[in-house]
Amino acid sequence: MNKILVTGGCGYIGSHTIVDLIENGFEVISADNNSRSNEHILNGVEKITGKKVKNYKVDLCIYDDTYAIFQENPDISGIIHFAAFKSVGESVEKPLLYFENNLNSLINILKCADEFNVAHFVFSSSCTVYGNPDHIPVTEETQQKPAESPYGATKQMGEQIVQEAVKCSDMRSVLLRYFNPVGAHPSAAIGEMPLGKPTNLVPAITQTAIGKLMVMQVWGTDYPTKDGSCIRDYIHVCDIAHAHTLALNYLLSDQHNSKCTVFNLGSGNGFSVLEVITEFERISGVKLNYRTGPKRPGDVIAIYANNDKAKQLLGWTPRYSLEDMMRTAWNWELKLKEGEIFFPAQNPDLN
Ligand code: WQD
Repeated sequence: MNKILVTGGCGYIGSHTIVDLIENGFEVISADNNSRSNEHILNGVEKITGKKVKNYKVDLCIYDDTYAIFQENPDISGIIHFAAFKSVGESVEKPLLYFENNLNSLINILKCADEFNVAHFVFSSSCTVYGNPDHIPVTEETQQKPAESPYGATKQMGEQIVQEAVKCSDMRSVLLRYFNPVGAHPSAAIGEMPLGKPTNLVPAITQTAIGKLMVMQVWGTDYPTKDGSCIRDYIHVCDIAHAHTLALNYLLSDQHNSKCTVFNLGSGNGFSVLEVITEFERISGVKLNYRTGPKRPGDVIAIYANNDKAKQLLGWTPRYSLEDMMRTAWNWELKLKEGEIFFPAQNPDLN
């Protein structure tokens, strides 16, 4: 059985990916310092899979502590590296925090992977590497524009670091560029746990609908789009998770000699903010209390993916519709309200 180290395993995409890996026969360990996540999410993983996943509560920016994980697990055959700060807005306010955290942790993991001859590496990248594209849908070959935020810059630099690192090692890698991951596992045992006020659209919608937020803002309705609001490629988190399993199988199959392969992970459909709100209202029966506000700095007008390469080479086909995304996101929010999901208070100075 292949043992996979998932960094950021207590996070939103990390926890959903662990479920998919276990369901596909992998042995999994997690490394997550829980500075932006809650280790209790692994109880939900256990509820779904029946497997207890060990989490190493380690700051991956500390080399010796990161090295100790590999010393204890010399049989790690692959790494999926999610661990990073990911708030676009926060990165604008604290750029050095983002460069220090996101790049130092990546470099430490790559150094340990080299020391312990780990053969396969999957890097969590983002469509933010494209910036504001001139043409959509974007393919993996679309020219990257300057990043719109330090967060996006850490993803562009992260991709370059991985590409250079694997050139002089036996490791092979895959870079996965997520579009907008949304929704929750159909069991509602795991889902997104934004710290503090959500900045992303779908948790803002569900928290407004459930009453945690009084009102939400639609940031800009005078863009040159079909209804004036921004266009994004929303993709269910379980589709994203399964793509990681397929990416590992792609690397393990060893049929491809490429050292570093890039894939877009998007549905291939662009929906506007107002279309998402309308779909949410339809499936929840809740009239959403929102106001239109000014444009948000750094927002891209419109982007969605050409996902042909992932379909052809990974055999990946997104299974969930926008309706599924809204329904699972809402079910998760309802479960959180019922208190069925127990999460001790988050780190207070982070809220
Ligand atoms: C989507 C649209 C907002 C909140 C995210 C991640 C980024 C990357 C890509 C992974 C925008 C609008 C939002 C609200 C709104 N993912 N909006 N009111 O900015 O595309 O980026 O996905 O790497 O890390 O941040 O997603 O959900 O923040 O915004 O009107 O309260 O919804 O203006 O047009 P974004 P988002």
